[in-house]
Amino acid sequence: MLLPSVTILTALLASAGVVGNPVAAPGPTPAPSLKDTIIRRAANCTFSGSIGYSLASKSKTSCSTIVLSSLTVPSGVTLNLEKLNTGTNVIFQGTTAWGYEQWEGPLFSVSGNQITVRGDPGSILDGQGTLWWDGLGGAGGKIKPKFFRANDLTDSILEGITIRNAPKNSFSINGVTRLTVKNITIDDSAGTSNGKNTDGFNINNSDQVYFTGVKVWNQDDCMNVNSGTNIYWTNGFCSGGHGLSIGSVANGTVVRNVTFENTIMEKQQQSVRIKTVSGAVASVADISYSGITINGGTDYGILVDQSYGGTKHEPTNGVTITNFQLRNITGYVDSGATQILIECGSGSCSNWSWSNVKLTGGKQSTTCLNKPSSISC
Ligand SMILES: *[C@@H]1O[C@H](CO)[C@@H](O)[C@H](O)[C@H]1NC(C)=O
Ligand SMILES: *[C@@H]1O[C@H](CO)[C@@H](O)[C@H](O)[C@H]1NC(C)=O
Ligand SMILES: *[C@@H]1O[C@H](CO)[C@@H](O)[C@H](O)[C@H]1NC(C)=O
Ligand SMILES: *[C@@H]1O[C@H](CO)[C@@H](O)[C@H](O)[C@H]1NC(C)=O
Ligand SMILES: *[C@@H]1O[C@H](CO)[C@@H](O)[C@H](O)[C@H]1NC(C)=O
Ligand SMILES: *[C@@H]1O[C@H](CO)[C@@H](O)[C@H](O)[C@H]1NC(C)=O
Ligand SMILES: *[C@@H]1O[C@H](CO)[C@@H](O)[C@H](O)[C@H]1NC(C)=O
Repeated sequence: MLLPSVTILTALLASAGVVGNPVAAPGPTPAPSLKDTIIRRAANCTFSGSIGYSLASKSKTSCSTIVLSSLTVPSGVTLNLEKLNTGTNVIFQGTTAWGYEQWEGPLFSVSGNQITVRGDPGSILDGQGTLWWDGLGGAGGKIKPKFFRANDLTDSILEGITIRNAPKNSFSINGVTRLTVKNITIDDSAGTSNGKNTDGFNINNSDQVYFTGVKVWNQDDCMNVNSGTNIYWTNGFCSGGHGLSIGSVANGTVVRNVTFENTIMEKQQQSVRIKTVSGAVASVADISYSGITINGGTDYGILVDQSYGGTKHEPTNGVTITNFQLRNITGYVDSGATQILIECGSGSCSNWSWSNVKLTGGKQSTTCLNKPSSISC
């Protein structure tokens, strides 16, 4: 089975100008058998240019390292690296560009066990968002594709990736267990006036996701946890967006043990936010933010909203929010903004512990609802 298909692959690669790097064996070794040579030749595969797209999808399980070198992906298709072999490495080099089409995406998708997806220095995943951005985001106008689907990964790593100008949401992390996300840059700063719903990271139904050294310039949540457990974020930077958010928490979901620390939040709509869907029954527990510096906020510094998607300012109490800890939350909001707004349902918010929450600028709210008595608005 294996030999013929690899042989065909090798012929295909050779005819298409795809490079399979031979392995430099250490020291003298016996001449490899034909079979070994072919398999080893196929181990490191480089796909490039406009032909690389279809070859990469076809031969992805024959390569232990997949180098995507200055690939151009046709419009309206996913660069599909789902169901990779265990232990596969994917490396982006140069600029990877996707063509314009109105569709839902994703532009890229990866899944598997022990997968590493790395961006080499200087590499860029260019979503060409300016071709879609119309100020309407996901709510209308052009249909905009999501960018990077990281679903069904276990024991995996995303690192060194730079995304520029995402049409809409950048990373969708769903059904993942033990994923490290480090040194990622998302730069949608060109979308300041017309970009919308360009979320950095959306997390759903995932366990043990660790973020470090992530920088995001965008126009929606920097990172949000819709559902999931044991999630940790440190040493981040977020500019222009809607904060580090829990939710919107939907009916029947659980969010537990999420920590955000040591992050600079610049020019956000709000920086620290828990939003739960109006009428939902769910649980949010053990949420901690510490060492958060807020450099400007147009609407709020800290916002807890239990009326999301329902009647504004009429929170419902089916989602409990317990053990919500804030430590060292400092900085300022804009002059028209409110420092802290808490709108909890009756009895749904309890056991909160806040210390050294010191914001300046804007105004203090007089309309907080059902907040735990130890907390000041
Ligand atoms: C494949 O390429 C990667 C990245 O360039 C390199 O680290 C690795 O040693 C290569 N492996 C083989 C089997 O050639
Ligand atoms: C982060 O990733 C970028 C892009 O790949 C790279 O140039 C840089 O060296 C990385 N930084 C660290 C600390 O790994
Ligand atoms: C979240 O995950 C659940 C369960 O896997 C799935 O049914 C739902 O569609 C996902 N939601 C989003 C927004 O991806
Ligand atoms: C909370 O999550 C962190 C990060 O994943 C983990 O180290 C810690 O053990 C978890 N705590 C509990 C009580 O599960
Ligand atoms: C929440 O889910 C429960 C159980 O599936 C269902 O009975 C209820 O109608 C749902 N509520 C809302 C507001 O969707
Ligand atoms: C809060 O800040 C103080 C003073 O800078 C520092 O000693 C402490 O470790 C910080 N605590 C947390 C949880 O960030
Ligand atoms: C209340 O919060 C404290 C920490 O602030 C935590 O140790 C404890 O487990 C929480 N209790 C409940 C019932 O959530």
